[in-house]
Amino acid sequence: MYTEKVMDHFQNPRNVGEIENPSGVGEVGNPTCGDMMTIYIDVDENEIIRDIKFKTFGCGAAIATSSMITELAIGKTLDEAYDISKSQVADALDGLPPVKMHCSNLAADALQAAIENYRSKKKE
Ligand code: FES
Repeated sequence: MYTEKVMDHFQNPRNVGEIENPSGVGEVGNPTCGDMMTIYIDVDENEIIRDIKFKTFGCGAAIATSSMITELAIGKTLDEAYDISKSQVADALDGLPPVKMHCSNLAADALQAAIENYRSKKKE
């Protein structure tokens, strides 16, 4: 039911962990299944994501989508990263089973939350 890419990112997730003193943190939960995801970003002076890490307590699809979104986001500007959609994440994984599409919302939402957190801190 899962593509090879999903299995690969589930079994060998990229960029797992935390960033100390991150530029922004986004934490989201899925109220239906109770899964949780946190994304940490480190942003350089040109607002490019130079490092990104995640911690996910969730299903295999949630872990695979978190891993994939970190790979899609690294090196991008905040505006570009903010626009990464859940379907782009699923496409990069060669698709997710329809019943698991909601899991990819978590990854896109967590990244947007981390970017919003960075932007709100900057305004202070
Ligand atoms: Fe909860 Fe996938 S079942 S995120």
